[in-house]
Amino acid sequence: MERIKLPFASGLEVEFVDRQLALKKVEEWAERSTYPVQVVFGPEGCGKTAWLRQSAVLLRELGFHVIYVDPLRKYFEAYTDVKEVVRRLADAAAEVLGVAEVKLASLVIDLADELIRRRKRKIAILADDVFQAIGLGEAAKYVKALLGLIEYPPASYEKIVVVVATSEGVTRREIGRHRWADLSPMWNLPKEGFKQLYDQIPGEKPPLDDVWRVTGGNPNLLAELYKAKWNVGNVADRIMERKRLAPGFVARWRPWLEKAVEDPDALWSPDAPEELINELEARNLIVYHLSERDLRLWAGEPPPEKDLELGIGRRVAWQTPLHREAVRKALEGA
Ligand SMILES: Nc1ncnc2c1ncn2[C@@H]1O[C@H](COP(=O)(O)OP(=O)(O)OP(=O)(O)O)[C@@H](O)[C@H]1O
Ligand SMILES: [Mg+2]
Repeated sequence: MERIKLPFASGLEVEFVDRQLALKKVEEWAERSTYPVQVVFGPEGCGKTAWLRQSAVLLRELGFHVIYVDPLRKYFEAYTDVKEVVRRLADAAAEVLGVAEVKLASLVIDLADELIRRRKRKIAILADDVFQAIGLGEAAKYVKALLGLIEYPPASYEKIVVVVATSEGVTRREIGRHRWADLSPMWNLPKEGFKQLYDQIPGEKPPLDDVWRVTGGNPNLLAELYKAKWNVGNVADRIMERKRLAPGFVARWRPWLEKAVEDPDALWSPDAPEELINELEARNLIVYHLSERDLRLWAGEPPPEKDLELGIGRRVAWQTPLHREAVRKALEGA
């Protein structure tokens, strides 16, 4: 398989690394088609987009007509000889901000329909972060429309693969209630894969183990640290601001936050306040209700059973150690 290049930081491209297990999953899907829709969720910056883009190339090599859209970035890739499909995607992407996002998200459904009508036998739809583009309230309806393609196609097909990626933990509950999708979690990179990415970064850098301990294998944080000249405090401060960890919020939940910083599974206890859990999930600080570490349930390598140094509990985990650090800093500052 051709390995794609990915933008990592300004002036630095990296080659796709690791994710053998997650790519294997795509191969399986290609072989037997997806039913129902596959929704993959995971910590922000864990590498969902990178994996989906690499999957697009993999599926192309397997003879699929592939449409990949990333509406928030107004980006698409179409591997098909149907020119009309490419033209309509380009037109949608060229729309003004605010219109392009929604159009791209909804267009993939129409275009998949079109490809099936034209008797294309193998079709793959990869939708990246669509829920943010269309609004979280529309997520379930969107997934149902995708399922419609699989269940009631306008003509027969041989294979169809439909995958959606999202970092929005809250959409999980909404979608999980229905039979329209299978949800698989993805985690940050395992250490070996993370090392392959780390090795591609030029210049002087802190030892691998130090970077691993603060990022927990999150490739986006590796990029952030590189851009911040490895200043961990700066990156934590930025997360603190981005997550609006203001004194009021911290004061209100202090005892629980203190416990969760020590061990995120504290939030799994029956008396942990649901409102706080929802907030931490909505702000993409924690992943709640982590699945059992059964390979079949995960898109790719699961996290360890429990690793308090990385902020990973059995059922609840900080998205990365730096997400936890941002909360710790907020607790100290308030
Ligand atoms: N397997 C990988 N090989 C090489 N680079 C990777 C890999 N996974 C992620 N990266 C790099 O790490 C950064 C973050 O990855 P990516 O954008 O795929 O994460 P994400 O989970 O889609 O994030 P978000 O939650 O913001 O959508 C990107 O710069 C990407 O190029
Ligand atoms: Mg992404």
